[in-house]
Amino acid sequence: MSKDSEVPELSVEIFRLIRELLKEYCGIFFDDSSRGLLQRRLLGRLKLHNLSSFSDYYRFLLFDKQRDEELAALMDILTVNETYFFREKKQLLAFSEEILSEIKERKKNSRRLRIFSAGCSTGEEPYTLAILIKEKNYFKDWQVEIIGGDINRRVLQIARNGVYRQNSFRATDPYYIYKYFEPIDNDKYKISEEIKKMVKFSYINILDPFKLRFLGMMDVVFCRNVFIYFDSESKKKAANNLYNIIRPGGYLLLGHAESLINVSTEFVLKHLKHDLVYQKPERG
Ligand SMILES: C[S@@+](CC[C@H](N)C(=O)[O-])C[C@H]1O[C@@H](n2cnc3c(N)ncnc32)[C@H](O)[C@@H]1O
Repeated sequence: MSKDSEVPELSVEIFRLIRELLKEYCGIFFDDSSRGLLQRRLLGRLKLHNLSSFSDYYRFLLFDKQRDEELAALMDILTVNETYFFREKKQLLAFSEEILSEIKERKKNSRRLRIFSAGCSTGEEPYTLAILIKEKNYFKDWQVEIIGGDINRRVLQIARNGVYRQNSFRATDPYYIYKYFEPIDNDKYKISEEIKKMVKFSYINILDPFKLRFLGMMDVVFCRNVFIYFDSESKKKAANNLYNIIRPGGYLLLGHAESLINVSTEFVLKHLKHDLVYQKPERG
């Protein structure tokens, strides 16, 4: 407790312990400059559980029977969830013009397409992928599964509702808004039912290999703008976990500020016409 007020202080020592625990749980790394931010964000949790110090809270996170629930609640207040429809156009062109047509040929017998949007936030990314697939008439009679996973329960609920404000459409061609959204009150738009039912959302931590394995094998994994918050050890773990759920010849697409340099040597960097993507080798 600080001397001049009753507000508990997050000491350097406890800050380091809590950040280590958070890093182990979800990969997100809080550098030294984030101590004040973490203190402010966690204060409400201390109050909620009637704890008077951050060291008590640390023990709570380690040993309490509600620890899993508490960690999930922390994800709701600590993750950065910025996203919008049709983000990173060149990469989406590579996906819709090159990757999808390759998959169409490769899987013409099974007619099954499986895509995972890891760290999908409020859902704009997996819904964009669903729209791009819908636009390709050749997937009409395919079994298409798109899964959006995140560790923030609040954003997953928004994704499931499928209602968005203008800000989510900053990079969207009006053609798609007109075709796949319905305007509703107060400047909001609701995603059409046909697109909504193509995507399932779930609490999936990409650092948890056991939960990931239940997803089954994927043709394409999008994991964009998630690694930027991770330290290098967590990037390695996450890349390895994602590698294990991508079928041989399948793809991993990261955000434009991200790469697998010093993270993984398992994927091959492939130069497509529109963008660079990572591919799992055929005999991976
Ligand atoms: C900045 S958003 C990116 C959203 C979208 N992929 C995009 O590029 O527009 C990052 C998302 O990753 C999620 N995230 C962070 N760590 C994660 C983890 N270990 N497993 C799954 N999702 C995670 C966050 O909750 C957040 O919603």
